Amino acid sequence: MPADTTKSPLAAGLLDIESLERSEIEAILERARFFQPLPNETYRRLDSLRGKTIVNLFFESSTRTRVSFEIAARRLGADTISIAAQGSSVSKGESLVDTLNTLVAMRPNAVVMRHSASGAPHFLAKHLQIPIVNAGDGTHEHPTQGLLDALTILDRRKSLENLRVAIIGDIAHSRVARSDIHLLAKFGAEIVLCGPPSLVPVELAELAPGVHISYYMKEAIRDVDVIMMLRVQLERQHEAPMAASEYFRFFGLQLEHLALARPEVIVMHPGPINRGRELSSDVADSQRSAILNQVENGVAVRMAVLERILA
Ligand code: NCD
Repeated sequence: MPADTTKSPLAAGLLDIESLERSEIEAILERARFFQPLPNETYRRLDSLRGKTIVNLFFESSTRTRVSFEIAARRLGADTISIAAQGSSVSKGESLVDTLNTLVAMRPNAVVMRHSASGAPHFLAKHLQIPIVNAGDGTHEHPTQGLLDALTILDRRKSLENLRVAIIGDIAHSRVARSDIHLLAKFGAEIVLCGPPSLVPVELAELAPGVHISYYMKEAIRDVDVIMMLRVQLERQHEAPMAASEYFRFFGLQLEHLALARPEVIVMHPGPINRGRELSSDVADSQRSAILNQVENGVAVRMAVLERILA
């Protein structure tokens, strides 16, 4: 299947899911399905981005997202350069704008960036003439994670329409939750947010239509199609956190919980996972878990996104 050659709304980059049309999400997911490898195969190697250079600029730690963007770009024939803030001039006091201007002067074709400040990529996109792909900005959004989560659900369900989804954990600090909520709400999902009140403030119910809050796990996961667990983001919390064992007792996903959900429930987690805090090992490694499928789908989704931006 050739790439769609009409000008994509992504030509200026991908900053968030909230402002994407549902039709654009569908187009990305359809193209990502084309890139998904068969079992025991690797991703196809194309040369649609040959001659293009993509800079991956990560101001926060990352394993999955950074490697996955890099593999995706290379599978499309692009050259990639990955910069971690620790080893760059940022650690010498250079401002974000100066760092970006310096990189842009070397004429890459796109910048993929992760930053601890919500809105950092949006700010830069206004000031620089280069497509920017948001790989996670503070507690705001992580659009390619939202897309890969949708693709993972589609691997196990016929459609994204009208799902019942529970998102459990540290929602206050989760950019993944925000991207997932915006995406699934565009397809009519009913979404229950659950976690300790300090990590699930009531105003989160205003994020999108169909979002509710429950502070009880057993209530939140009743009859859901998808359970998304989230990491407790200790690095973003200012108050003393709950002990891991106490958190697990109230908000950790255990095998017996799964019986309350729909029989074919999908368990997801963006990673990195903390066994014994957010979920038990037998859930993480169970047939119901799609955690490694999410990682796998990250490459296909990022190929589709980079191609729509640059091809
Ligand atoms: C997430 C992130 O960085 O937002 N991880 C990821 O990209 N897969 C979630 C997290 O760090 O907990």
